[in-house]
Amino acid sequence: MGTYYTEGPILSAENLGVKYGDKEIIKNINFQELDVLRPGRVQGQIIAFVGRSGRGKSTLFRCMAGLQQPNEGRVLIPDLKQEPVAGKGYPLKEVQEGDVGFVDQKYTLFRHKTIEQALHFAMRKEPLSDEEKEAKINQYLIDWGLEEVRNQYPNELSGGQRQRTAILEQVLHSALYIIMDEPFSGLDVGNVQSVQNAFQLISQTHELNTIIFSTHDIDMAVNLADSIYVIGYPTLEDGNLEPIGTIVKHYDLKAEGLAWKDQMSQDHYDLVEGIKAVMMGS
Ligand SMILES: Nc1ncnc2c1ncn2[C@@H]1O[C@H](COP(=O)(O)OP(=O)(O)O)[C@@H](O)[C@H]1O
Ligand SMILES: [Mg+2]
Repeated sequence: MGTYYTEGPILSAENLGVKYGDKEIIKNINFQELDVLRPGRVQGQIIAFVGRSGRGKSTLFRCMAGLQQPNEGRVLIPDLKQEPVAGKGYPLKEVQEGDVGFVDQKYTLFRHKTIEQALHFAMRKEPLSDEEKEAKINQYLIDWGLEEVRNQYPNELSGGQRQRTAILEQVLHSALYIIMDEPFSGLDVGNVQSVQNAFQLISQTHELNTIIFSTHDIDMAVNLADSIYVIGYPTLEDGNLEPIGTIVKHYDLKAEGLAWKDQMSQDHYDLVEGIKAVMMGS
């Protein structure tokens, strides 16, 4: 079993609620993810959100990325511009657009930039010299299997290459974490593998090691994530569901000894069935 310890919060939501018009879509969303450290290794955190369609996952993700202002509550992230406090990490601030990476389902890329140009653009605000940026980009292109296509445009790339470029852009652009809304939907088996590999690569980098994603594939969530939230409709006292999305269950796979395994065990499959049952009832 992997030993680990935790430091200050890397992401939290406080009493988050969103309405469209008068209609409440999500409410009372509260959670806190702490920075997880494992002695002797760079441990990327992977956090999954699952739940039936329409429960508010994408709405929550837009709030977590600072792309949408909630009607109630707030999303807090570490303020890297301030000095960290011993044992508590960085002071917190409300998330704003651009603070964290966000990859949409369509893997949108700049049409008129080559991969290399797009990556340079993603790094334009980094306080590094041109040589340092160049070296970093070169290494990433090799690690991510994009070296040979560095001078090509998006329309000259395969689906898998486009996805990796879109994710890499966000990795280079963002210092905290990367949010991906359903990164696996609509992909063929090979591309799913390529995005899964990208997850592993990201979690081994120092600069950015937390991935937050949503999926309909519960096996995938249990396989990849160390923390899983189920977004669903809560059950009212009369037994009916209240049609407003919230966190109905949280699974900490680290605490259960199920995180960071190379292979799925019976305990993992039991968890998959448990999560599906919770989803179906919410
Ligand atoms: N811009 C919007 N205006 C009005 N209703 C919306 C808007 N975006 C989403 N919704 C509604 O909010 C609910 C949650 O949607 P969404 O966050 O996309 O859920 P999920 O990602 O879990 O499928 C759905 O009922 C959807 O129709
Ligand atoms: Mg969605």
